[in-house]
Amino acid sequence: MLCVQTDADLAALNTFALPARARRLLRVRSLEEARQAQAFLANHPKGFSGLSLILGGGSNLVLRGKPLDTVLKAEIPGRRRLDETEDKASLLIEAGAGENWHGFVRWTLGQGWPGLENLSLIPGTVGAAPVQNIGAYGLEVAERIESLDALDLINGELEQFDVSACQFGYRDSIFKHQPGRWLITAVRFRLPRRWQPITHYGELTHELAGRGFSDSAPPSPLQISDAVIALRQRKLPDPAELSNAGSFFKNPVIEAGQCAALLAAHPDLPHHPQPDGREKLSAGWLIEQCGWKGRRFGPVGCHAQHALILVNHGGAIGADVLRLAKSIQDDVFRRFGVELEPEPVFI
Ligand code: EPU
Repeated sequence: MLCVQTDADLAALNTFALPARARRLLRVRSLEEARQAQAFLANHPKGFSGLSLILGGGSNLVLRGKPLDTVLKAEIPGRRRLDETEDKASLLIEAGAGENWHGFVRWTLGQGWPGLENLSLIPGTVGAAPVQNIGAYGLEVAERIESLDALDLINGELEQFDVSACQFGYRDSIFKHQPGRWLITAVRFRLPRRWQPITHYGELTHELAGRGFSDSAPPSPLQISDAVIALRQRKLPDPAELSNAGSFFKNPVIEAGQCAALLAAHPDLPHHPQPDGREKLSAGWLIEQCGWKGRRFGPVGCHAQHALILVNHGGAIGADVLRLAKSIQDDVFRRFGVELEPEPVFI
């Protein structure tokens, strides 16, 4: 039976620890319960618009604090290998949307199925991973997704999305543009049988070299996972100790001409050419140059180890985060003429 909790406190359900309450919280633990939740919404006096938010691990979320009507939390468990198909090149693995992402990654590695190791220790759930197309250390989850199932909360149809239908981009997907419409229930991953380590991301290359690995002594998938975990633990705050929502801004992508002009004024500006000829800048660098790294702003601030992470030192509300974000955006724009776009979803 679908679990309906009334007057739910959401502070413990978002990693930024921002306060907000929901009139009801529906905890969905199976496909059947997902259908019950859809029927519940269909009978809601406000219909589908009564749904305020679909929650996974709450790790990419800024709650502004307004009381919410109905919140749906995806907790569907399950992880299994699907096939022993003709496909000699890859393995198909399926996981329920509610599985903890990092637990799932380590489980695949433990089974001897590499391919997700670069995405170790990212907070959140399997179902949330495709929504913002999580990425780190040279890999985006879109590169490993085969397809996913999502319940259309408007009409109750269970749809299968193949990877092109997901319209993945940098920290982007169709699900981010239609918030609240699709309840992702399960995700299928295609993992390579002929595994190749992905070690070109500068910081990871350096970490692995420091651990004694090289082209002639390559790391195993588990060793890459361990190196990624160490890197993340060193510079990203653990939300359990210091509340945050990961990178707060996307790395901005600008035209080559603008990048050349910026480089003339700031020769050490980190920039990465994109396939379309544009250049991706490091938002953390831009923010640090504006003097924000480690700075506090009331109960919130910019993390001392990584300027791209905004943190809640305790007792913050959504408005504090928005004020800080706006000040940073204004400073970066004034100094560099570059607009920073927030990465989390604002509710
Ligand atoms: N930098 C600074 N100062 C800082 C932080 C960064 O100058 O305080 C500069 C440095 O030049 C550094 C560069 O920015 O070399 C890149 O920093 P980092 O390797 O930490 O990566 P990032 O671009 O800041 C992105 C993702 C992270 C992901 C890392 C590793 C985005 C918005 N963020 O961060 O993802 O873990 O790369 O691949 O693309 C997330 O999305 O929540 C997230 C943590």
